[in-house]
Amino acid sequence: MTSFSFPDSFLWGAATSSHQIEGSNILNDWYHAEQSELIPPAGVAANSYEHSHEDVKLLKQINANAYRFSLEWSRIQPTPDTIDDKALAYYRNILQCLKENNIEPIVTLNHFTVPQWFIERGGWLHRRSMEQFICYVDIVMEAFAEFNIKHWITINEPMVYAFNSYMIGIWPPFETHLSKAFLVIEHLKRAHKYAYHTVKEHFPNSSVSFAKHYRWFHPCQCGSKFLNRISCGIRDFLFNVDFFDYAMITRTMDYIALNFYTGEFVKFTKESMLGDACHCRMDDFWCNSLGWFVVPEEFTRSLKRLSIFRKPIIITENGTTEHNDEDYSQFIHEHISAMAKAILQGVDIRGYMYWSLLDNYEWAEGYNANFGLFTQDRHAKPAAKYYSDICKNNSITI
Ligand code: GAL
Repeated sequence: MTSFSFPDSFLWGAATSSHQIEGSNILNDWYHAEQSELIPPAGVAANSYEHSHEDVKLLKQINANAYRFSLEWSRIQPTPDTIDDKALAYYRNILQCLKENNIEPIVTLNHFTVPQWFIERGGWLHRRSMEQFICYVDIVMEAFAEFNIKHWITINEPMVYAFNSYMIGIWPPFETHLSKAFLVIEHLKRAHKYAYHTVKEHFPNSSVSFAKHYRWFHPCQCGSKFLNRISCGIRDFLFNVDFFDYAMITRTMDYIALNFYTGEFVKFTKESMLGDACHCRMDDFWCNSLGWFVVPEEFTRSLKRLSIFRKPIIITENGTTEHNDEDYSQFIHEHISAMAKAILQGVDIRGYMYWSLLDNYEWAEGYNANFGLFTQDRHAKPAAKYYSDICKNNSITI
């Protein structure tokens, strides 16, 4: 056993997103979908709209020096022609509170939810969706000009959003057309590019990226190994590689904002070129309470693979939902150790944000998944203490 120290300015913290923690927002597409009972209600969530200072206290409690959170577009621009100053004041207040506590903000401009008016105009399918997004980004840039925000994320997990909302239709607006999913991806790429340049105009010294959900994919052992390998390759390219390639070619990725959780064994199906996720190996691996494979060695391997882009990496999400407390600490230990191993192999990693600071609204799962270091009513779980020691010491025993 050896002690591994992380680089001096390493960012330690946790991540959240607006709709998942704030509560009581009636202006976005998720709220409207809830009314038709197509998804579970978010309700007051962790009520962070009333208690954001409490959240900063939780960050202090874990010795965090960074916090990734997102801005709710629908609150800031409740109609195409109005700006809500109170909403802007709420986020400015969080930024001010973080500043006073020496916690670096990592600000996400869009984390899945969009204003209902935007969806009614066609959402990300509309050819002018990028312009509408940039109009909102401009509002944010002007409102936060006085803050020295060093890290921005334009769009959270564009491929997950396109897949869930437009291909398999489990998230609003519940579309199931491959062609629509591809059009949305094209528009998200351009929205990212324009947002990147807009942020850089206002914050030239900041680092800007999009948050990439990266998964490991392996061909499944059952059925035709050859065909499984082909489906696996296509899935890997579309899900993992394509958006990175776009950002590299357009030079719109200052760092890699990596969200890492799990992976899939892929099997060929006649129905889809992407194949299907096979569950035949569930008994061979640690699976969390949502049935996701937990394989920390794949974290090291994925980080090594991503180092080919020669960009610094910040882990902007990594976490789990488990049946018992010990497994959370074990997850954190094994993933931070896996990250340390990648650093030892030369990968340039600058920070780690645990997902999530506190239990929250887990999208289509509602409140059936608990990723938090703290409960929804802000009580520390044992993992919060375990993680806070790592953040304090800037080191881990591996
Ligand atoms: C990510 C997403 C988060 C959170 C997390 C856990 O894909 O960005 O909002 O839900 O997964 O499932």
